[in-house]
Amino acid sequence: MQRFKDKFALITGGTNGMGYAVAQQFIDEGGSAIITGRTEETVHQAVKQLGDKAFGIVSNAGNMKDLMSLQEAVKLYTDTIDLVFANAGYGKFTPIEDVNENDFDELFNVLVKGPFFTVQQIVPLMKSGGSVVFNSSVATEIAMPNFSIYSAAKSAVQSFIKTFATELTEKGIRVNGISPGHIKTNIFNNTGLNTQQIEEAVQNIIPTIPFKRQGEPSEIAHVVLFLASEEASYIHGAEIKVDAGISVIR
Ligand SMILES: NC(=O)c1ccc[n+]([C@@H]2O[C@H](COP(=O)([O-])OP(=O)(O)OC[C@H]3O[C@@H](n4cnc5c(N)ncnc54)[C@H](OP(=O)(O)O)[C@@H]3O)[C@@H](O)[C@H]2O)c1
Repeated sequence: MQRFKDKFALITGGTNGMGYAVAQQFIDEGGSAIITGRTEETVHQAVKQLGDKAFGIVSNAGNMKDLMSLQEAVKLYTDTIDLVFANAGYGKFTPIEDVNENDFDELFNVLVKGPFFTVQQIVPLMKSGGSVVFNSSVATEIAMPNFSIYSAAKSAVQSFIKTFATELTEKGIRVNGISPGHIKTNIFNNTGLNTQQIEEAVQNIIPTIPFKRQGEPSEIAHVVLFLASEEASYIHGAEIKVDAGISVIR
């Protein structure tokens, strides 16, 4: 299928995990993708792997200066964006008593301010028919220990799905979101856990998942691309759970 022939996507946090998978599928279906990430090295590596329809911008989703220069940086590659996947993020999971102000602010900067100002800055480059997809989380549905800040931040993103849909209706831009369950990515890598602790955490999570496995980033990408496609032309202000049913099956 070539659903995105000659279309351009901006994918924040596209060097790895779900963002990378979305970039890959978007390119496979005829489009071009601009990805962001925090370092020259990760962005360069991902662009090289994705091929000549991929472009990279080093931009930190938690940094206002970077967010405010995103539009100019994107315009070096294209004047029109058809899909924004506001995805950049990381996890830091801490017991309430150990959360400090810095961790709190950093998570909210990256997970809440990041998607808000990314979309604010890119909307002027979008035409009627364009699509915004936010990445929220199953953590908005299931209360998990140590997730207090992360879950609150993702609940704010969930709220953006609805409020942005309201404001962007007039422009003909559809706004939706996905709520992933436990997906096999590098999300645990910046949490301070070592490889063995990460493996243990994953092994503890797997029995709680109805399908008894983590999701693949490609399974998220299929849904993001569906939401961005013509096939989703009547879907607006919706959040699709891609979580193997974990949020409803006990
Ligand atoms: N994995 C899960 O189970 C799960 C479930 C629900 C929701 N999510 C959400 O899914 C999104 C993608 O995460 P993932 O699971 O695919 O993890 P991942 O494999 O670690 O990928 C995260 C991506 O975000 C980028 N990133 C992180 N912090 C950034 C920042 N401050 N500015 C710009 N880019 C940044 C990383 O790029 P660099 O390292 O190059 O900066 C990387 O490309 C996140 O918002 C996460 O909260 C994940």
